[in-house]
Amino acid sequence: MIDEQYVDSLYGEDADLMRAKQGIAAQGMPDISVADGYGRLLTMLVRMNGAKEALEVGALGGYSGICLARGLAEGGRLTSLELKAEYADLAKLHMTAAGLGEKVDYMIGDARESLARLKEAGRRFDFFFIDADKEGYPIYLNYAIALANPGAVIIGDNVLLRGRTTNLDKAGPAVQAVRAFNQQIADDPRLMSTVLPGYDGLAIAIVKSS
Ligand code: SAH
Ligand code: DHB
Ligand code: MG
Repeated sequence: MIDEQYVDSLYGEDADLMRAKQGIAAQGMPDISVADGYGRLLTMLVRMNGAKEALEVGALGGYSGICLARGLAEGGRLTSLELKAEYADLAKLHMTAAGLGEKVDYMIGDARESLARLKEAGRRFDFFFIDADKEGYPIYLNYAIALANPGAVIIGDNVLLRGRTTNLDKAGPAVQAVRAFNQQIADDPRLMSTVLPGYDGLAIAIVKSS
């Protein structure tokens, strides 16, 4: 998209984020870090919310982790859920290179299990970034609502699935799950929300206080 390229071109290179992207490519990992423009938005939203406890579902190589941790209030922490230990190791390396390694804790394994453990432990969070397997999005959304402090922000990445969400010929499990996620984002009376259609789509919700 020419408009997305234009707004991206306004910004200079970011050394920490470039290092993460290069490390991801060098390991042969997929090039699916959050869009640059949405990474900047994550930092801003974490900062505006004054979040102290942030939770990320899907770490990959640490790109979004850097964006989230940059926005945290003093003493704030990021908990990052990642299926693959080698991905979490690389994410930690990139977070550390960015001076943010002390702010992050990784939980390895299926996020469904990590979320169940966090709930069991009575943990609460101010900010959620959902960006792992798309089939899990409805489950992750309901855990986020259950683990949310009042006023918490919940973000979902890739809610347009590169056109598959709106393609009526598509009805695979990931597409169905993301459609259900988007509809709940819009309809759930506990949430205030919007969905940004730029890049690959970003859902933004706030968990109402009352
Ligand atoms: N948030 C990252 C990109 C995440 S890509 C960024 O923007 O920088 C999706 C990640 O989710 C991959 O690292 C993948 O290993 C992880 N993942 C996939 N299924 C998962 C699951 N069931 N539980 C936890 N992580 C999962
Ligand atoms: C894709 C992009 C993502 O950001 C992601 O989390 C998963 C998949 C993709 O473009 O295929
Ligand atoms: Mg994504």
